[in-house]
Amino acid sequence: MPRLAYVNGRYLPHGGARVHVEDRGYQFADAVYEVIALRGGRQVEPERHFGRLDRSLRELRIDWPVPRHVMRFVAETLVRRNGVRDGYVYIQVSRGVAPRDHAFPAAARPSLVMTTRRTRPFDAGVAGRGVGIVLRPDIRWKRRDLKTVGLLPNVMAKQDALDAGAFDAWLVDDAGTITEGTASNAWIVTGPGVLVTRTADADILNGVTRLGVLDLVREAGLRFEERPFTVDEAKRAREAFLTSSTNWIRPVVAIDGDPVGDGEPGPLVRRLVAAYAESFGAV
Ligand code: PDD
Repeated sequence: MPRLAYVNGRYLPHGGARVHVEDRGYQFADAVYEVIALRGGRQVEPERHFGRLDRSLRELRIDWPVPRHVMRFVAETLVRRNGVRDGYVYIQVSRGVAPRDHAFPAAARPSLVMTTRRTRPFDAGVAGRGVGIVLRPDIRWKRRDLKTVGLLPNVMAKQDALDAGAFDAWLVDDAGTITEGTASNAWIVTGPGVLVTRTADADILNGVTRLGVLDLVREAGLRFEERPFTVDEAKRAREAFLTSSTNWIRPVVAIDGDPVGDGEPGPLVRRLVAAYAESFGAV
């Protein structure tokens, strides 16, 4: 069975699936997306992902290409037809195809594309392994709460991090506070043991994994604060970690080559990885 992609109403062999050269996603990054993790063939927290997609579309005045329940059905169908158990489904909606002009086209229909990708099953052992990050300036636009495909600054920072031998980059704003990773949210544990992650405003993407972890944190009665934290606080943190649909929870054990805490995944992040594995590891 060939791997399929969904493009505007059709399930096509992935290798030959195409959108038009004048798609506005391609020309202007005039498009939004979601990446939904799959465990055992089921989507992790689909309501939150489709809720965030709805918000991105509304803020950019792009219509839903198909009703929400139809989009959910298409995503489920593609995952089933591709036989994916562990991995993710990628959903992209652009403003559509029109002759190139910055203004919104009068009559374009939004384009809908979906693909799936297999990954290794969730593994608390892998999730619990520490990674190193580097710090890079955050040169993105000021609406990072919208999940648009305009990701060039993220791409550049990620490559920079890899070139430096790190797993990812954490991005630093002009005030010297950390916004987020290139495709993940950033967390620290302060000296007194308080979890800190940045407030979900226009400066960051409000991660679905971030929200899931906040649920776990509340359930466990752990102390936490949603607020910006500085580079200095991060470097002095007892523990640090990142969260995303594709990386779950990953302990951060080095920042710019300096160890975080004792340079090993700490007790709090290990506890959260275990709680996450229990809640979302096998759906
Ligand atoms: N990115 N911040 C940014 C900038 C992101 O791109 C992402 C996710 C997150 C975490 O969000 P979530 O927990 O909903 O995955 C935070 C996806 C995975 C991507 O672009 O591939």
